[in-house]
Amino acid sequence: MSSQIIPVAEFDLVVFGGTGDLAQRKIIPALYHRHRDGQVVGDSRIIAVSRRPLTPDEYLAKANEALEEFVPKEEREPEVVKAFIKRLSYVAVDVTDDAGWQELKAKLDTHSDRVRAFYLAVAPSLFGQICEYIGNTGLITEKTRVVIEKPIGKDLNSAKALNDSIGKVFREEQIFRIDHYLGKETVQNLMALRFANALFEPIWNAAHIDHVQITVAESIGVGSRGPYYDTSGAMRDMVQNHILQLLCLVAMEPPMSMAADAVRDEKLKVLRSLEPITAENNDKVTVRGQYTSGAGPEGAVPGYLDELEDEASKTATFVALKASVANWRWAGVPFYLRTGKRLPQRSSEIVIAFRPVPHSIFDTGAGGVAENRLVIRLQPDEGVKLWLMIKDPGPGGMRLRHVPLDMSFAEAFEVRSPDAYERLIMDVIRGNATLFMRRDEVEAAWEWVDPILSQWEDNGDSPKKYTAGTWGPAASVALIERDGRTWHEDD
Ligand code: BG6
Repeated sequence: MSSQIIPVAEFDLVVFGGTGDLAQRKIIPALYHRHRDGQVVGDSRIIAVSRRPLTPDEYLAKANEALEEFVPKEEREPEVVKAFIKRLSYVAVDVTDDAGWQELKAKLDTHSDRVRAFYLAVAPSLFGQICEYIGNTGLITEKTRVVIEKPIGKDLNSAKALNDSIGKVFREEQIFRIDHYLGKETVQNLMALRFANALFEPIWNAAHIDHVQITVAESIGVGSRGPYYDTSGAMRDMVQNHILQLLCLVAMEPPMSMAADAVRDEKLKVLRSLEPITAENNDKVTVRGQYTSGAGPEGAVPGYLDELEDEASKTATFVALKASVANWRWAGVPFYLRTGKRLPQRSSEIVIAFRPVPHSIFDTGAGGVAENRLVIRLQPDEGVKLWLMIKDPGPGGMRLRHVPLDMSFAEAFEVRSPDAYERLIMDVIRGNATLFMRRDEVEAAWEWVDPILSQWEDNGDSPKKYTAGTWGPAASVALIERDGRTWHEDD
């Protein structure tokens, strides 16, 4: 089965930080795949920009390296690679020097009527300055967009300042804030499951759902990202954005349509309904952890402090939280959230745990009646499992079993699952902002997260240690078990 490709209009995509890690690992490979599938048409151009004085050939060699490293060999047909490389060019631009900007302008001016997108794959401290230059150099046309990524600030005030600096140059509808989790296949499937089936919506509420779990587990450590990560930690790096976005998609009311603002309005309401965590309940509903040396998937791994070479760091590499959405639909339904580095495996899932049956008609010999669970698996093997009770087949009386109706997307559909960036970049070109965060969403998320971070800072405790290769500190298990529940295990 092949997926349907809708070509986008011709475009110019300018990638600031064009030789950096994000461009190499994600943006160039994503564009290659879209080109290979015929979605990038005409003489659409990709213009890489950075400060480095590279010759055109030096840049193309770099782009080739990106393809070799990040696109599987069987997907790199020489003719397709050659045609893709023709779309690429390079301009050296220094944000303190006008020369490069004029060269960029001359290049863009040859096609001033097409969609133009500036992707700022650079440190957020440069966003404001680059936008100012883009504006002052006269590069903004009616069809211009700008793409930025997290971290959008490290708290509410810095997020506002950053949004202000971009907002001086671009209108809100021109700004595409990427949260790459929203581009993941199964995350969108969550909307399909909820709103394209009549089955779930009537029971998608506190009367039928006991609790929700969202786990984003990674087996990798922070490695060479330590210096950045140490200024951020799991709460800013994963919860403020990816995990709260997932929570929004689970908890939001049905939007009127898939139009960008219809969806974003509903997500915003969820963020604003999050019950604040206070200094009084913080230690009961939050857990912070930091990994020590232990076992990774490929053998022994160092602890966070050894990797960082800073014995004093109190940065959390693991966070578990019990959140509540204070509205009619979700009153009394806890949302247990957890994320961490150096956990036993890379696995991300959303678990909707339904309430037990009101009365069991089966005698004790049949075994207990476990609750239904809907498990939406984001990665690695995307799919959906609905855990049901059935009768154990065969003679011997009524014995009950808890088994999943299991759909693995890889098995069900023989389609390559696109990387989130492929979809998101094409959406930028189309001007479809449904899967991008609006300013007020980012700020509302910080409003909920900020007090938790300050409470942690005020109480001065260090995060609890956990051994690499385990599911975080014991306190994370206690957080959910105190309520008579357990973290979902998929067996
Ligand atoms: C990024 C975080 O946003 O998401 C990283 O900064 C994290 O720390 C990554 O590793 C996880 O993304 P994915 O797509 O691999 O789950």
